[in-house]
Amino acid sequence: MSRVDPCAGSPGAATATATGNCSFPFINSVVCADNLGFMSKLPSEGCALIYADPPFNSKQVLGPTKTSPHRFSDHHGTGVAGYLGFLRPRLAEMRRLLAEHGTLCVHLDWRSVHAVKLMLDDLFRAENFLNEIIWSYRSGGRPSRWFPRKHDTLLLYAKHRGQHRFNRLRGGVYRTQDLKYTADGQPYKSTRNGRIAFHPDGPAIGDVWEIPILSTVSRERTGYPTQKPEALLERLILASSDAGDLVADFFCGSGTTLAVAQRLGRAWVGCDENPGAVRIASKRLGLIGADGPGNSQDGKLRSRIGMAPGGKKKKTR
Ligand SMILES: C[S@@+](CC[C@H](N)C(=O)[O-])C[C@H]1O[C@@H](n2cnc3c(N)ncnc32)[C@H](O)[C@@H]1O
Repeated sequence: MSRVDPCAGSPGAATATATGNCSFPFINSVVCADNLGFMSKLPSEGCALIYADPPFNSKQVLGPTKTSPHRFSDHHGTGVAGYLGFLRPRLAEMRRLLAEHGTLCVHLDWRSVHAVKLMLDDLFRAENFLNEIIWSYRSGGRPSRWFPRKHDTLLLYAKHRGQHRFNRLRGGVYRTQDLKYTADGQPYKSTRNGRIAFHPDGPAIGDVWEIPILSTVSRERTGYPTQKPEALLERLILASSDAGDLVADFFCGSGTTLAVAQRLGRAWVGCDENPGAVRIASKRLGLIGADGPGNSQDGKLRSRIGMAPGGKKKKTR
């Protein structure tokens, strides 16, 4: 297995425009391992943004489906206590890996967001809490005994609130009544106290994000059962990191975070314990060709998929 050296330049399909802190190991690599052991090997304070989309502990086995052979088992600890026992040491490691200006985003749903919020308040201290983002979407399924559950929750914590990166994002339309526009397109409203000018790029994006889930025919679809839309990650990465920063995802699944980070000129590092996920992420990033490791376009970039040179999977636990 060859070592990727992004500091020496990375030509070919997987060219990453950013290499972040080049002394950080495994930069622009996807690693197949249990993330707890993997993170423990990484140096502190390198990451500007860590996105964590852990299993929700739904007790379901997702996939394979008619259209995709990929399988993902969501059993992580018994009850809420068992699940928190699984997450806590991992989130603590993520805090250690964050730069002083870093932000952690943990993606959850109704099953455990309440319990994990309390745990994060404890790990990060409540004063470092930044946002509870509601990712609102439409999908099938209309229960008759309660309201349809059509949102996930993203909890954002700064390592040190005040020092953290935050780029305000704008978009969408103003809901202000009687909005007018100057000849050069500047929105404004006339009031009895005079004109109020509005920002031409639209209102500041708030904490409720309406972003469609991936459709079954989306071009983005990799077939991985829990894949998230790139638009969600794009917003997060643009807001919480700058070009050249290091973005990490240690539950990377199909590699959505890594692909968006690469497109936006961030350096990245990914990890997943499922070899199938790592294979998909590696293909998505151009680290391996369609036939597997060693077939990337430039023949140099490889994913670290935990395979010994003979093709035998290394023990990761
Ligand atoms: C919800 S999925 C992530 C999906 C991803 N955000 C995407 O867009 O494809 C969670 C992932 O965490 C991985 N995972 C679960 N436990 C893990 C562990 N201890 N170490 C590394 N990966 C783990 C699973 O294999 C799964 O791919």
